[in-house]
Amino acid sequence: MKLQSLLAAIVFLISLLSVFLNVIADLDSDRQALLDFAESVPHIRKLNWNLALPVCKSWAGIACNEDGTRVIAIHLPAVGLFGPIPANSIGKLDALKVLSLRANYLNGSVPSDLLSIPSLQSVYLQHNSFSGDIPVSLSPRIGVLDLSFNSFTGEIPPTIKNLTRLSVLNLQFNSLTGEIPSLDTLRLTNLNLSYNMLNGSVPYPLQKFPLTSFVGNSHLCGTPLNSCSSSPSPSPAADNSAIPEKQKAVHSKKLSTGIIAAIVVVVSIVMFLLVLVISFCCLKKKVSHSTSIIKEKVANAGRSEKPEDFGSGVPDAEKNKLVFFEGCSYSFNLEDLLRASAEVLGKGSYGTAYKAVLDEATIVVVKRLREVGVAKKEFEQHMEIVGRAGRHPNIVPLRAYYYSKDEKLLVNEYMPAGSLSAALHDNRCTGRTPLDWDSRLKISQGAAKGIAHIHTEGGVKFTHGNIKSSNILLTRDLDGCISDFGLTPIMNYISFKYRCAGYRAPEVIETRKGTQKSDVYSFGVLLLEMLTGKSPLPLPGQDEVVDLPRWVRSVVREEWTAEVFDVELLKYQNIEEEMVQMLQIGLACVAKVPDMRPAMGEVVRMIEEIRQPQGETRPSSEDSRSKDSNAQTPE
Ligand SMILES: *[C@@H]1O[C@H](CO)[C@@H](O)[C@H](O)[C@H]1NC(C)=O
Ligand SMILES: *[C@@H]1O[C@H](CO)[C@@H](O)[C@H](O)[C@H]1NC(C)=O
Repeated sequence: MKLQSLLAAIVFLISLLSVFLNVIADLDSDRQALLDFAESVPHIRKLNWNLALPVCKSWAGIACNEDGTRVIAIHLPAVGLFGPIPANSIGKLDALKVLSLRANYLNGSVPSDLLSIPSLQSVYLQHNSFSGDIPVSLSPRIGVLDLSFNSFTGEIPPTIKNLTRLSVLNLQFNSLTGEIPSLDTLRLTNLNLSYNMLNGSVPYPLQKFPLTSFVGNSHLCGTPLNSCSSSPSPSPAADNSAIPEKQKAVHSKKLSTGIIAAIVVVVSIVMFLLVLVISFCCLKKKVSHSTSIIKEKVANAGRSEKPEDFGSGVPDAEKNKLVFFEGCSYSFNLEDLLRASAEVLGKGSYGTAYKAVLDEATIVVVKRLREVGVAKKEFEQHMEIVGRAGRHPNIVPLRAYYYSKDEKLLVNEYMPAGSLSAALHDNRCTGRTPLDWDSRLKISQGAAKGIAHIHTEGGVKFTHGNIKSSNILLTRDLDGCISDFGLTPIMNYISFKYRCAGYRAPEVIETRKGTQKSDVYSFGVLLLEMLTGKSPLPLPGQDEVVDLPRWVRSVVREEWTAEVFDVELLKYQNIEEEMVQMLQIGLACVAKVPDMRPAMGEVVRMIEEIRQPQGETRPSSEDSRSKDSNAQTPE
């Protein structure tokens, strides 16, 4: 008996030890592979990679999984790496997910063990001098493959069609020949094959991509290029334009950096002054608001001085006709609601929202709808649909409604953390805590899920109809919830025709009818807003409004540049690739042609893929990293 338990203990200890050794061995071999790489690839900027420092915490450009047992990302853009990547170096990091070595001077052929690392998801090797064939063996998990601006020759490997997760494929400005293989286009949002030497015709599934995805291949034909005739007409003009365009782009980028720096300085001074003025005004306003507005109105109504005021259309017999939704635990009636102390939260597209405090435990938001364009019956039927579609953790619950001839009210749960709009735009430049990248990612993911849910639950014709950052409310743990949805069909269109123009899809302005694809467009604008920190709607004290999709497209013309991103995000490290992926999703959503936009369900999947569970989070090592920021690799 004793012997047995002793043996068991020994076996247990040994197995524990072997697990432990295994972990060490894995990180050890990762470290060795990196050292081999650093030793054989000369680099202009010094890397602080040495055995005295912990790999996961201190090595520049290296990120590990959460428990610090494996290297999962390499970010070394523009550190002057020079020469070929040796085989058996980076290729041995078999937990690697993100490889970014862009804008270096790497040359020679890409070793065959590199792009075949089974865990690899994102590859950024653009702007180097790689030559030879693109390796045939590719990891099936690759979602982003950017090999643009190199000197690759040969054909696009046929294995590329096995990449079912591919969302971005950039191969422009190489010397690739042969025909374009068919690709899995399910996830593909960005394709660029321009300025190569490809021939044959554009495969049918790729014809939905724009002309600029294919230009500069003089022997390529078919939509969106010239139709394939018997004698394909070479267009030398396209070939000639290749080089100047490249130079022009580089030039304009340099220029704009200087100008932007100057603008930033001027703008921040102006903003500071504006904020001072605004906060002064707001303070004054707030004082007048905090007197209960609903109460005032009720008082008026009681004396029936102004028949059109709040509560006046409520005959005594109907005082309790507040219609609650199933599963709602509130127990108050309309009278309680009217008596509660209230504060104006804001005037939205559909009416004014009040925060009504019934008691300490019960705080609700009451919306007085203006311009409801339907009769009671229709209103009630529609509310049923809205109530049913709205049961989801990422949707602000609608608790009750009230309809009378003169008064239409919606009662929502109160969300104390405020809206995404407030978190992004309020009190900029006044030392507030900006919304960090992780939160923005989480909020947009939550909002996307909420919208996708109502799209599936409400039926194909059901839309949110009013997606904007002030309708994305935040939970205490910073998840995003959508509110104010599904009301467009019951409102008079005129009532909000000109508002929210910055989020409106181009076709809606013409047809006056929203679709689920126009919701996707508005959500795309929201993503761009979240990434750039710019508002598509006028903010108080700021007349100028940017057309966000157009502005972002114009900045991001040549390469994905850091210039589009919110300055508040630039202090976080190693998030650029995630932001770029999000930018690509945003741009896919704001495609001008509705059919080109992904469905909301796909958007959710794409956002989820930006950061898979387990590990790609890097904040754990952020603090220690910023200390040796001189060894870092800022762009
Ligand atoms: C494309 O070019 C290759 C040589 O690079 C040639 O073998 C092939 O026949 C060409 N295909 C077409 C459709 O012209
Ligand atoms: C493809 O790349 C070229 C060169 O960078 C650019 O001019 C063009 O706009 C890009 N096209 C697309 C669809 O991204």
